[in-house]
Amino acid sequence: MVFKSSTFSLLLFLFLFLLSPTKPSLALKHPQKPRKPCKSMSFYFHDVLYNGKNAKNATSAIVAAPAWANTTIMAGQNHFGDLVIFDDPITLTNDFHATPVGRAQGLYFYDKKEVFTAWLGFSFVFNSSEHKGTLNFAGADPLMNKTRDISIIGGTGDFFMARGVATLMTDAFEGEVYFRLRTDIQLYECW
Ligand SMILES: *[C@@H]1O[C@H](CO)[C@@H](O)[C@H](O)[C@H]1NC(C)=O
Ligand SMILES: *[C@@H]1O[C@H](CO)[C@@H](O)[C@H](O)[C@H]1NC(C)=O
Ligand SMILES: *[C@@H]1O[C@H](CO)[C@@H](O)[C@H](O)[C@H]1NC(C)=O
Ligand SMILES: *[C@@H]1O[C@H](CO)[C@@H](O)[C@H](O)[C@H]1NC(C)=O
Repeated sequence: MVFKSSTFSLLLFLFLFLLSPTKPSLALKHPQKPRKPCKSMSFYFHDVLYNGKNAKNATSAIVAAPAWANTTIMAGQNHFGDLVIFDDPITLTNDFHATPVGRAQGLYFYDKKEVFTAWLGFSFVFNSSEHKGTLNFAGADPLMNKTRDISIIGGTGDFFMARGVATLMTDAFEGEVYFRLRTDIQLYECW
């Protein structure tokens, strides 16, 4: 008896299929959620650094500096070793005088002598009619990059259990006293 070629390939297929070790479906083991954010938001926050003269207006201060520097003026060598605490207003537009929707509270420190780069850890503490709760951010901030991605590692209140990524952009800066960061938030886990 002669097999037709289509019957033959079917048998060959069944033969190979039955012999091959069954692999668990990758799709089931690591479900790939579509990489689309469940929530996107943009904010600005404004940092006015204490410079020895603006104690009333300052929203941030150097609280630790290397032994060769001081806490009034940023250290040389790309500010290496300076640790800054901040409580900055968050606004919906880039206007410093707009009504804040919350505060960005936390710290940044400069962590490389050769390059201008920092590490950020802070919370957005929302207190507006639209949002109550917090989002927590952490990550490296290579300041010379036009955009920098940092992790959103959790949240509370309206942002209970939220996770995602925030893209930071320096929207403006004035010498060593003022800078404004645009923060584009993409949450990939929402409850
Ligand atoms: C506070 O600092 C900001 C940013 O430098 C500036 O726009 C604002 O006019 C200052 N306000 C006062 C009262 O000095
Ligand atoms: C802090 O350091 C700067 C730069 O080295 C210096 O000009 C300034 O006088 C120092 N200020 C104090 C209060 O030590
Ligand atoms: C939040 O805003 C309300 C209304 O403006 C105010 O009474 C309250 O003190 C604020 N809470 C915080 C933690 O800033
Ligand atoms: C900084 O920019 C470089 C080149 O554009 C990119 O490869 C890198 O991922 C960026 N780093 C961060 C932390 O965003």
